[in-house]
Amino acid sequence: MPILDFDSQVFLAPMAGITDKPFRLLTSSFGRGNLVSEMVAVNALERFNLKTSRIADVRDEPYRVVVQLVGGEPKLFTQAAKIAEDLGAYSLDINMGCPVKKIVNNNSGAWLMRDLSRAAKIIETTVRATKLKVSVKFRKGWDHDHVNAVEFAKMCEENGASYITVHGRTRSDFYSGQADWNIIAEVKETVKIPVIANGDVYDCLSAQKIIHHTGADAVMVGRAALGAPWIISDIDRYIKTGYQPKEKDILSIKTVILRHIDLLVQYYGQQTALQLSRKYVCWYCKGLHDAKKFRENYIHINNLSVAITAIDEYFNDLLNNKQEEK
Ligand SMILES: Cc1cc2nc3c(=O)[nH]c(=O)nc-3n(C[C@H](O)[C@H](O)[C@H](O)COP(=O)(O)O)c2cc1C
Repeated sequence: MPILDFDSQVFLAPMAGITDKPFRLLTSSFGRGNLVSEMVAVNALERFNLKTSRIADVRDEPYRVVVQLVGGEPKLFTQAAKIAEDLGAYSLDINMGCPVKKIVNNNSGAWLMRDLSRAAKIIETTVRATKLKVSVKFRKGWDHDHVNAVEFAKMCEENGASYITVHGRTRSDFYSGQADWNIIAEVKETVKIPVIANGDVYDCLSAQKIIHHTGADAVMVGRAALGAPWIISDIDRYIKTGYQPKEKDILSIKTVILRHIDLLVQYYGQQTALQLSRKYVCWYCKGLHDAKKFRENYIHINNLSVAITAIDEYFNDLLNNKQEEK
């Protein structure tokens, strides 16, 4: 079943602090795949908080962006949904899976899996407030004694959700252990709306496997995109054509890092870009020769042009060593 009119079965997962505008632009530059924003707090959006409004503002992006809302107070979703719509969202997603204490203590995120009537009210209110489609992202359940993804999925459908995303872990699992793909299959068998499967997809084969195992309509990829934003379009191409992507060579990785930093600078300015680049550069270099030493040096650099030179030198060394090996 097609997910709305998205032309790809692959979604980049919403990740706070990661899937910002620079990351989405970078990801989309590799090819197709659907993009979801970082979560946007409805109470801050409703108050026109500048920083939050900026996160939700996707108006000038050259592709569709699903904007994810998070909150626990149903009435705040009316205004927040309207603002997100005005700020260019293609559709809205509601976060009912975030395990973080600060969020669940606020009756939000995964807490809503324990309060179905509040969750229902939030979905219903949002659907009523906007002409955009509304989806919900949630988990297997609160903990292993409270596994209610199937019941929760039915509630989402009954209250007007257009599709749902199921992450096969409970709130108490956070991100540990293995995602349970069987529960996603159970949800898929139960509801008529499209289902996106999420959890432990890290390459083309595991993406194909989760779709096959669960019968889901699409797949969502999170952590595997850290340091590999090309994975979304790689999986999209693999699902459509069976084409197995080649591993990225050193020069291509260097080009992606520099492009990513450039996008960060354009969006955040030099100093913030440098700070943010530290985590990304560490992820991009994972598994490369002498990466530990390079990372330890990189995270202490306080000047952007010194950082760019360090990247240049590290990658040139890698390339020269490769040439010598030949
Ligand atoms: C750093 C980080 C930030 C995340 N932020 C969000 C978020 O804002 N909203 C959300 O629904 N899920 C969030 N998640 C969960 C992911 O969307 C996804 O459900 C989870 O990582 C499992 O998928 P994976 O195994 O492909 O990583 C986040 C995960 C990570 C690692």
